[in-house]
Amino acid sequence: MRLPSQFLLLTTFLCSCTSAHPTPNNDDAPAYRNDLLTLHRDLINIPSISGSEGDAALFLQKYLRKHHFTVQLQKIPSSSSSSSKRYNVLAWPPSSSSSNHTPRLLITSHIDVVPPYIPYSINTTSSLSKDTLISGRGSVDAKASVAAQLTALSQLPPSDQIMLLFVVGEETSGVGMKHFSSLQKYQFESAIFGEPTENKLACGHKGITNGIISSRGKAGHSGYPHLGKSATEVLIRALSKIIDTDLGTSERYGNTTVNIGVLQGGVASNVIPKEASARLAIRVAAGNQTTGAKAVQEKIFQILQDVDEEALSAEFTQGYGPVKTECDVEGFEKMVASYGTDVPNLEGDHKSYLYGPGSILVAHGDDEALKLGDLEEAVEGYKRLIEHALRPSKGEEHHRGDL
Ligand SMILES: *[C@@H]1O[C@H](CO)[C@@H](O)[C@H](O)[C@H]1NC(C)=O
Ligand SMILES: *[C@@H]1O[C@H](CO)[C@@H](O)[C@H](O)[C@H]1NC(C)=O
Ligand SMILES: *[C@@H]1O[C@H](CO)[C@@H](O)[C@H](O)[C@H]1NC(C)=O
Repeated sequence: MRLPSQFLLLTTFLCSCTSAHPTPNNDDAPAYRNDLLTLHRDLINIPSISGSEGDAALFLQKYLRKHHFTVQLQKIPSSSSSSSKRYNVLAWPPSSSSSNHTPRLLITSHIDVVPPYIPYSINTTSSLSKDTLISGRGSVDAKASVAAQLTALSQLPPSDQIMLLFVVGEETSGVGMKHFSSLQKYQFESAIFGEPTENKLACGHKGITNGIISSRGKAGHSGYPHLGKSATEVLIRALSKIIDTDLGTSERYGNTTVNIGVLQGGVASNVIPKEASARLAIRVAAGNQTTGAKAVQEKIFQILQDVDEEALSAEFTQGYGPVKTECDVEGFEKMVASYGTDVPNLEGDHKSYLYGPGSILVAHGDDEALKLGDLEEAVEGYKRLIEHALRPSKGEEHHRGDL
């Protein structure tokens, strides 16, 4: 697999010396195809693993300025001594009344990606078509959304009712959106979040809470188990009960699920383990955004108490319950997501839309990729969503400008 893909890359590189893309369009290509492909490629080519998004932010700043947007970089305060600079990118489309910014609609996505960096590659075995596969880290999550959002805007008349926000840190703590949210002075009516939804409009997504369960025992010789206390044994009993317990279900979001992502414990096979721990990611399907995570945490505390109150303890991140998003827009297929997003990190009383190209099922894998046709469909989808979100609200038809 290695060798052929390197050959493909080489081909792409050589051909890109003369034009952005090596082969002519031969199907019903939209006029923006080459611009879209170039933007998508340039974004993927810049490594931007969470924590090192600086170059991607500077690239976007330059790109947006070139397209006459007003741009502002918002520096993320750093708690570590790391010298790497991190910025959210804020932008306002070129418009006639640029001094009067009261944006009604926020269009947002994230510029960070998960590790490792995987270079851009496009399958140019045959000429470009809607089936052409484009791969590389971020090709789906979420540089496809960023490229499609910007291309959609380029196809619509400029509007001073729109603001753009490309944040850092979505894949880890949500620090970029949380920082923006803590400083923002806008009262948006709507926000469109770009994340891979296979071009379906999400009706919401599950919540999440992460936790560590710790177990404390007493070390001893494994031949005399009654003289010690096995921390791993207690932990296993607790985990077994957790995965067999109904932690909450709902019709819309399905079951709350538990991933035991990391297990640690003990020092040697012939020593009774004194310590053990498990790290969990729990996807919350019941309750609402405010209460959902807390309810699951309480159920787990109850299980720990029932199994062995003395040996077991747990710590959880604050987390949140299921997040509702707007999906009542004509012409979109609907879906419900099981992954977390920045939607709950933007505070305020606005409608949230969650939509974007590509599948979450490949988004964090080595095989992250999408089809050119899906990227182009997303441009059309974003155009319709933007138009929908900017429709005059009821009773205000005569006071709002149109898009
Ligand atoms: C590239 O495209 C060709 C023609 O469509 C196809 O036969 C081939 O399997 C593709 N290769 C990869 C790596 O996707
Ligand atoms: C939810 O859990 C129930 C009970 O364990 C199970 O029967 C059902 O198949 C699960 N639903 C889904 C969608 O996984
Ligand atoms: C969440 O549920 C709780 C308890 O049912 C309720 O008191 C609260 O108002 C709900 N919050 C929202 C935002 O719906």
